[in-house]
Amino acid sequence: MPITRIKTGIPGLDELMEGGLIPGSAVLVAGHTGAGKTLFCMQFLWSGLQKGEPGVYISFEQTPEELKDDAIIFGWNFDAYERKGMCKIAFYNPFEIADVNKIITDEIAKVKAKRVVIDSTSIFAMYLNDELKVREKLYKLVQKLKQTGCTILMTSEILEESKGFSRYGVEEFVADAVIALYYAGLGGEEYNSIEIRKMRRTKHARGYFPLEFTPEGLKVIKK
Ligand SMILES: Nc1ncnc2c1ncn2[C@@H]1O[C@H](COP(=O)(O)OP(=O)(O)OP(=O)(O)O)[C@@H](O)[C@H]1O
Ligand SMILES: [Mg+2]
Repeated sequence: MPITRIKTGIPGLDELMEGGLIPGSAVLVAGHTGAGKTLFCMQFLWSGLQKGEPGVYISFEQTPEELKDDAIIFGWNFDAYERKGMCKIAFYNPFEIADVNKIITDEIAKVKAKRVVIDSTSIFAMYLNDELKVREKLYKLVQKLKQTGCTILMTSEILEESKGFSRYGVEEFVADAVIALYYAGLGGEEYNSIEIRKMRRTKHARGYFPLEFTPEGLKVIKK
């Protein structure tokens, strides 16, 4: 039986990966700063809401107000869905919360979420000073989130010049899939691109595809 895939809502992307993400998988959205990680995740959440799939956005970086104000520009009114109890965009200060796993699973339960975003995981590395601890913490979080059956997006920052997909090279190993967003200068011209770096159980396209920022959000351009 073919799996019914979870559509990302990014035009042009799902067709590069057998129709979408594997339900219940944990996907790392890795990228350079400003490459569109947050926008990608907001679009994923918005697209789910349009299909009646509730979602949770856990931000460790921007406030819900900032995220929602940015989303309005693309015509995505998350407030309306929050009022209906279908979605929650929440900010947590990782230095102030004791049990991050519990907080996130509680938010998931409240709205019966099918889609979850963690933006970003870099914060774990910031407050745990040891790579082993980061790996253990993230691994436990991903396992716990997977038990909910949600499809999970988590972001990580790729440093310029780096060959890894996160600050300490941990996230890519706990994720089932890695989608990388790049921002690079070529011949003096700046451009954005996207690569499906790995996706378990999926025959996905390889290489880099141009990524466009449109008034409706991100869009992958066919090569
Ligand atoms: N309305 C828009 N039209 C065109 N481009 C936009 C628009 N809004 C944002 N962008 C582009 O998206 C970038 C920011 O995207 P986003 O916040 O998703 O990136 P990010 O990878 O999450 O960055 P960060 O490292 O700050 O987390 C901006 O730098 C800009 O290039
Ligand atoms: Mg961001």
